[in-house]
Amino acid sequence: MTPDRYAVIGNPIAQSKSPLIHQAFAQATCQVISYVPLLAPVGGFAVEVDRFRAAGGQGLNVTAPFKLDAFAYATRLLDRARLAGAVNAMKFEDGEAVADNFDGIGLLTDIQRNLGRPLAGKRVLLLGAGGAVRGAMLPFLQADPAALVVASRDAGKAQALAAEFGAYGAPLGIGYADLAGQAPFDLVANATSASLFGELPPVSPASFAPGCLAYDLAYGKGLTPFLRLAQQAGAGQVADGVGMLVEQAAEAFAWWRGVRPATAALIARLTVPLR
Ligand code: ATR
Repeated sequence: MTPDRYAVIGNPIAQSKSPLIHQAFAQATCQVISYVPLLAPVGGFAVEVDRFRAAGGQGLNVTAPFKLDAFAYATRLLDRARLAGAVNAMKFEDGEAVADNFDGIGLLTDIQRNLGRPLAGKRVLLLGAGGAVRGAMLPFLQADPAALVVASRDAGKAQALAAEFGAYGAPLGIGYADLAGQAPFDLVANATSASLFGELPPVSPASFAPGCLAYDLAYGKGLTPFLRLAQQAGAGQVADGVGMLVEQAAEAFAWWRGVRPATAALIARLTVPLR
């Protein structure tokens, strides 16, 4: 039997953990699939995807820098992708390219289920106003927090982003300086790219409520400057994005294959200790 074909497309792509994750899911759920990394030239996304589909490809994960190209390529955008303005998973069926975005729901699942921190009634702070925050907005608002605040280096950008999601709740967009007027938060999630460069987003220790969860969406970096600050500020729990990575993959796998893989063992296997 020819295995059903899936891939992760990006540039660069060799560093992607998605092939390892999906192959592990397939093995654990007795699904016969192939899942490979697919390198596309920048500007060549559509040509590469057309070729993959012509060869029988059934689904793709999409990573940097193609999440907006995938948004443009899709013939049907599901709500989360439409609102995020970005796509991280596609399914090809009946001549359609159906697109979703599981980054936000993957993050939420990791926080609520794996880390045991339900967001209902809690004060939540998201740092940064880029694609990762856009993807998190809808799932987070649906989790019914008491407050959802987005802080950006550009207050206007955060305000505009919050306004876009006004139909789903009452998120607040502010600049980092305005955080001084805010009560501390039960969850502070770093969705800036600062950790990728070993930098610290300009968040004050006063924003961390005693015992709070501090979550860095970067993964495999150990204790980032953000997580270190959080610990010093009295956070009760720190986590990086390895769980988010595995959970968004599980969502895509379930969408494609109709079977939901277990995630705990794989998260443990991929975890780099936070020290
Ligand atoms: P993604 O699209 O995956 O969210 P990104 O756009 O590369 O990733 O980075 C996310 C955000 O990190 C950027 O949009 C930027 O947000 P703001 O300009 O709204 O503050 C933020 N960012 C990047 N470098 C940063 C740094 N050194 N310190 C703080 N924030 C930073």
